[in-house]
Amino acid sequence: MATTPAFDMVLFGGTGDLVMRKLLPALYQAHKAGLLHQDGRIVALGRKNLGRAGYLAQVEEKARPHMEQGFDPAAWTAFVERIDFHKLEASASDDYAGLAQRLGSDAQRVTVCYLATTPDLFTTICEHLAAVGLNRPTVRVVLEKPLGHDLESSCDINAAVARFFQEDQIYRIDHYLGKESVQNLMAIRFGNALFEPLWRREWVDNVQITIAEDIGVEGRGEFYDKTGALRDMVQNHLLQLLCIVAMEPPASLEANAIRDEKLKALKALKPFSAEDVAVKAVRGQYKAGAVSGKPVAGFHDEANIPADSHTETFVALRAEIANWRWAGVPFFLRTGKRMQERLAEIVINFRGVPHSLFENPAGQHTANRLVIRLQPEESIRLYFLAKEPGDAMRLQSTHLDLDFQSMYKVRRADAYERLLLDVIRGRLALFMRRDELVEAWRWVEPIIDSWEHSTVPPKSYTAGTWGPAASTGLLSRAGAAWNEEA
Ligand code: BG6
Repeated sequence: MATTPAFDMVLFGGTGDLVMRKLLPALYQAHKAGLLHQDGRIVALGRKNLGRAGYLAQVEEKARPHMEQGFDPAAWTAFVERIDFHKLEASASDDYAGLAQRLGSDAQRVTVCYLATTPDLFTTICEHLAAVGLNRPTVRVVLEKPLGHDLESSCDINAAVARFFQEDQIYRIDHYLGKESVQNLMAIRFGNALFEPLWRREWVDNVQITIAEDIGVEGRGEFYDKTGALRDMVQNHLLQLLCIVAMEPPASLEANAIRDEKLKALKALKPFSAEDVAVKAVRGQYKAGAVSGKPVAGFHDEANIPADSHTETFVALRAEIANWRWAGVPFFLRTGKRMQERLAEIVINFRGVPHSLFENPAGQHTANRLVIRLQPEESIRLYFLAKEPGDAMRLQSTHLDLDFQSMYKVRRADAYERLLLDVIRGRLALFMRRDELVEAWRWVEPIIDSWEHSTVPPKSYTAGTWGPAASTGLLSRAGAAWNEEA
């Protein structure tokens, strides 16, 4: 792959967790793979007067342990050369002239401003950048989630940012779209003739999308208590995955062609009424239990969680897409913290045959299943029935495997690396457009409202399980069951 153009990557929130755990390690991997232009600088911003040496000491301590794929001291030394530190108080307008001066006035140079800060600073930062000319066409802003707390605050942020930057300068990141298997899903759907005729209500019984995590709130208690799983995972990651499964084939791979189709899928999501929330949505909260054999605390015992918190750490929903392709097909969405294992997958359960000729028809209802696994390993598995060896004409379930790990020995870029490279190259296809975000918020809002006004607490589940029993009930009422096969 060709290297990027020359660039400046300006990291707001330069000393924060995201920069240390994800962004610098991702940039390091891109550097090591020779994908960054030689003239590519990283300028980390922070409030304290750390100086370059002070900042690099932090990088050494906090970022270096997150280099996942083999550490190369020589590459690291060369990578660190790219990093500089600049003292800047994000809300102080006077500080921006110095930043502009440091970056220089080359109007052709790509400048990426990554806003790894809380969203309440987004508007201020954009305004101050614009005031010193750092909104010229080659400047791009990357907005991290959460982009607002609800529909109104998200619209406010988007409107404010739009006063200073054009839509094609704004990169709203959802790192799930950068995962290899998500793009593979597009390849499978639109690169093969095999699935498309079956990819519809006539042949699909139900779709399941699961993002299960075994970790808890990981020291983010205060943030998480105000956020909850619906805002943290469903509004963005799960709905983006749903879009990729459900959207119509785009006219091309051009960013707006893809985003137009995703938007239509979001708009076709059936809104939840208050009654729907009661029967089609399950919220849960973990209590103490054990994950991988180790005892873990319950949500209420985590730091900064009020004893009476009703914040959900688990969500299961039965969504429906009201259009010709999907009418009546349940899309089951599920996510949770402290679940049995880390697992992210999309399951397409196809309908059974209309009439069985065989001795053991049990299990034929969803005989054909396509399982696209995103985590912990990427794979695609197609289940079907075949004859059991022997005299009798008996069927058994078997599968075809596409195991990407063993099939392709090439290095695989992590989601942040791919997305950062896309920003520098100016590719918007894997980022969310403003109208997509509005629709996603519009759809989750009635569920949020209903839960916020409810006096019924979330259903509790033991840490280390697959969530509350009600989540199983949600599917069994539709004659389905979660795919829990390893
Ligand atoms: C983030 C959420 O967006 O995604 C976290 O804020 C969550 O709570 C994380 O842990 C999960 O991402 P991944 O890539 O580790 O599955």
